[in-house]
Amino acid sequence: MPGLLAGKRLLVTGVITDASIAFSVAKLAQENGAQVVLTGYGRLSLVERIAKRLPEPAPVIELDVTNPDHLAGLADKVREHVDGLDGVVHSIGFAPQSCLGGGFLDAPWEDVATALQVSTYSYKSLAMAALPLMSAGGAVVGLTFDATKAWPVYDWMGVAKAGLESASRYLALHLGKQGIRSNLVAAGPLRTIAAKSIPGFERFEDAWTERAPLGWSLTDQEPAARACLALLSDWFPATTGEIVHVDGGYHAIGA
Ligand SMILES: NC(=O)c1ccc[n+]([C@@H]2O[C@H](COP(=O)([O-])OP(=O)(O)OC[C@H]3O[C@@H](n4cnc5c(N)ncnc54)[C@H](O)[C@@H]3O)[C@@H](O)[C@H]2O)c1
Repeated sequence: MPGLLAGKRLLVTGVITDASIAFSVAKLAQENGAQVVLTGYGRLSLVERIAKRLPEPAPVIELDVTNPDHLAGLADKVREHVDGLDGVVHSIGFAPQSCLGGGFLDAPWEDVATALQVSTYSYKSLAMAALPLMSAGGAVVGLTFDATKAWPVYDWMGVAKAGLESASRYLALHLGKQGIRSNLVAAGPLRTIAAKSIPGFERFEDAWTERAPLGWSLTDQEPAARACLALLSDWFPATTGEIVHVDGGYHAIGA
């Protein structure tokens, strides 16, 4: 099939509903010629059901990014479906409730540690688990929420995202010699399961709706997904450690 990602083999994490950013990435990637393997966390039968809504059936491999056995076995499981990987999409985030919604000063370390392990450290873990299948020209892409500012209600997830942004730069540093790129898309607020778990998320929604220069749809995952595809493609061959904002221009505007 012709298209931006013709012939590319992708591993896409993070599909849980058809509103997941990862679902849009997988759908658009298939429509643009890529072969997609999904990973699912927890409710695998649900992920498998959602995967059937993609243009092409996609296999689903179980992956909890905090489980060392899952990570160690990932490359072999992916190899059952494709003979290598050209791109890996990290679309994973989680923080316990204590870490969100204004709980910054009281969240206990155990909860913060979970947020950082799932949302930050996993970027490196996933890339390393997939590395045996990758070669020069390959790309890792993740999703962030602009971590240059402290946002009301985002709290430790904001710290986790700041860490993710740094981790992406370090991955760019350490995998550059192998010709593998690492870039992030900083998306504006989108109504997904992860977003709904943030108490007070509507504050982001109101701010973006009022102020994004290009306007902003809270239910259209496609702009963020398109940017992921572009970064996975051969059209950013000399770009790594970068963060592309897909937020209607909100980040560029003063309060
Ligand atoms: N929705 C937004 O407003 C928004 C904005 C910017 C960035 N993001 C980021 O986009 C990414 C995708 O989130 P989404 O908004 O599509 O929500 P989502 O709820 O659809 O996806 C989050 C995914 O993380 C997975 N996950 C959680 N813990 C995991 C674990 N231990 N191992 C493996 N997977 C695990 C979930 O199964 C789920 O598929 C996240 O990194 C999120 O922070 C979201």
